[in-house]
Amino acid sequence: MTVQVTIRTLNEMKQKGEKIAAITAYDYPFAKIADESGVHILLVGDSLGMVVQGGINTLSVTMDEMIYHTRMVARAARHALVIADMPFLSYQTSIPDAIANAGRFLKESGAAAVKLEGGASVCHVIKALCEIGIPVQAHIGLLPQSVHQMGGYRVQRDEERLLADAQAVEAAGAFSVVMEGMPAGISAKITKSVSIPTIGIGAGPGCDGQILVLHDLLGIHDRQLPRFVKQYVRLKDIASDGIRAYVREVVDGVFPSKDHSY
Ligand code: KIV
Repeated sequence: MTVQVTIRTLNEMKQKGEKIAAITAYDYPFAKIADESGVHILLVGDSLGMVVQGGINTLSVTMDEMIYHTRMVARAARHALVIADMPFLSYQTSIPDAIANAGRFLKESGAAAVKLEGGASVCHVIKALCEIGIPVQAHIGLLPQSVHQMGGYRVQRDEERLLADAQAVEAAGAFSVVMEGMPAGISAKITKSVSIPTIGIGAGPGCDGQILVLHDLLGIHDRQLPRFVKQYVRLKDIASDGIRAYVREVVDGVFPSKDHSY
């Protein structure tokens, strides 16, 4: 029997010291493969702006695009908790905007929770969403939506600030926190100091769980990958071998053969 992961499951996993495996997903087929492979969290990340849409950053992703992708992922999920990423300017503008947009994810896409970027500065938003029953995963450290303010994708090393951000989002009601791009020593300290599960990306092994971008770990692109990414397979090579073989056979008149004809 498939057991549905909930935010309670994740909390219990932290308490028992069991590691949480999260992955990003953007469409039905890959979400289904990931769900059946046992991941605990499927995050529909706004990273889709880069890895699916081919953009240079995540800033142009819209709510409608996020809803479209989250729907496909939620349809595939039988086990994993589906979290939808709130895109740039969907929650920073006002509390009513944040509620309306987070609410759309639960009402229209089948997500069970939302994620938003920021620490102490977005606690008023986290609190407002939690008060109306929308579970929120926070995201601190390297914040891709603030790429211009950070002057690039830079590892964050201000320990005092990172710790304060983690504690602030926990106090505001976040059920979990993604910690991106920070030294392993800092993320390990934060993980011990909060009671909510910490999910690291480029934050070392001391977090309660890990997340990677699906296209990075499967080697779908041949772009330069950051040091923290481990590529488990080179799907691009497998896919292009298959497509090249098909093209060759069509050009040579080998495909379709009798076996593939009526
Ligand atoms: O957008 C995203 O995919 C993310 C993860 C990398 C944490 O925020």
